Amino acid sequence: MENFALDLSTKIIFGKDSEEKVGEEIKNYSEKVLLHYGGGSIKRTGLYEKVVKSLKKSSVEFVELGGVVPNPRLSLVREGIELCRKENIDFILAVGGGSVIDSAKAIAAGVPYKGDVWDFFEKKARIREAIPVATILTISAAGSEMSPSMVITDEKSRRKLSGRSDLIRPVFSILNPELTFTLPKEQVAYGAVDMFAHIVERYFTSTKNVDVTDEMCEAVMRSIIMNAKKAVADLEDYNAQAELMWGGTVAHNGILGAGREEDWSSHRIEHELSAAYDIAHGAGLAVIVPAWMAYVYKHDVRRFARYARNVFHVLDEDDEKAALSGIEETNKFFSSLGLSTTMKGLGIGEENIGKMSKLCAGKDGIGFFVKLDAEDIEKIYRLALD
Ligand code: NZQ
Ligand code: ZN
Repeated sequence: MENFALDLSTKIIFGKDSEEKVGEEIKNYSEKVLLHYGGGSIKRTGLYEKVVKSLKKSSVEFVELGGVVPNPRLSLVREGIELCRKENIDFILAVGGGSVIDSAKAIAAGVPYKGDVWDFFEKKARIREAIPVATILTISAAGSEMSPSMVITDEKSRRKLSGRSDLIRPVFSILNPELTFTLPKEQVAYGAVDMFAHIVERYFTSTKNVDVTDEMCEAVMRSIIMNAKKAVADLEDYNAQAELMWGGTVAHNGILGAGREEDWSSHRIEHELSAAYDIAHGAGLAVIVPAWMAYVYKHDVRRFARYARNVFHVLDEDDEKAALSGIEETNKFFSSLGLSTTMKGLGIGEENIGKMSKLCAGKDGIGFFVKLDAEDIEKIYRLALD
């Protein structure tokens, strides 16, 4: 096991009606907040009214900024930074999914920073200060509700880049599984694939002697598989949605990666797809993760065989056969949620593969479990094609 430092400081407030506590919680931090949200689902579902009621009850003033889109845009982040400065706002409440939360985190880091917020994504500057962010989560997926990372798209350059700092980890997150009942089925499926992929990125490691996190990863992956199928079959299955909500948070809050080197290639490869084609992150991962697995499994056949046996109950005694069955089962799991596992299925052809591979590899290549250069990445896109 490697040395590690782990910060899990986000307070989680979980369960039915927990959003009613938001005003009371915020009062511990601020009297005037930015209420940040997406394209309108919170208004259609009635959540907006509940949040406003709770803020008013606790005499918390608020200024609103809606309009965050999936693959959240840099231009709205810049608008949010200006708004917070003008209105003297020192706290952001994000109500929505990963996109809204990431947009809120970027605004939070940008407000006290003298330069341009995109510097944090291009790694030209470090985040040294941020105003606090809290969330009310409405979709189980990205894990941003307890993660120190954010992903923003610059619509001008069409680059989707991530930034990271413990300073942008939400101070509290409200998780009420009932708030996910209004999601379209495909969003539940995308979310399940995303959280599953967050564990895949940590599970496939070269670090030895990490029994606790190996076993935890396997258990959480099994729970996600079981409950994703139930939630897609019945969107209002509270128990399944509750498991997915907690599973998605645990998958990405850092605990499953403690003491191990993580990979993150599939995410980097997917981010180029969602930047170029504006597809949902989970839709992209459903095609990239199996292709990545097929490309790298020979690097450590025994680990892939263990994955097959412990996550998908594959019984094959031959490691190579078991490893391949595990990859096939991964494909089947994503398909069982109604998702395509090929780029062609998403209507994406080979036209941008060369460009995306080069952008993704950058100067230094990507990945830790297996290091990949532009040529490797191109081969993975081609495996994902059809
Ligand atoms: O915008 P609204 O109208 O709210 O609609 C959203 C959006 O269209 C809708 N939705 C959300 N909750 C709903 C709902 N519709 C009905 N009922 C509800 N309860 O769902 C759509 C997708 O929302 P989005 O926030 O984009 O989904 P998700 O949580 O999957 O976030 C995806 C973003 O997170 C990034 C992804 O790259 C992507 O940009 N990620 C962030 C990470 C992080 N910060 O740690 C890690 C992840 O790996 C990921 O990269
Ligand atoms: Zn993800």
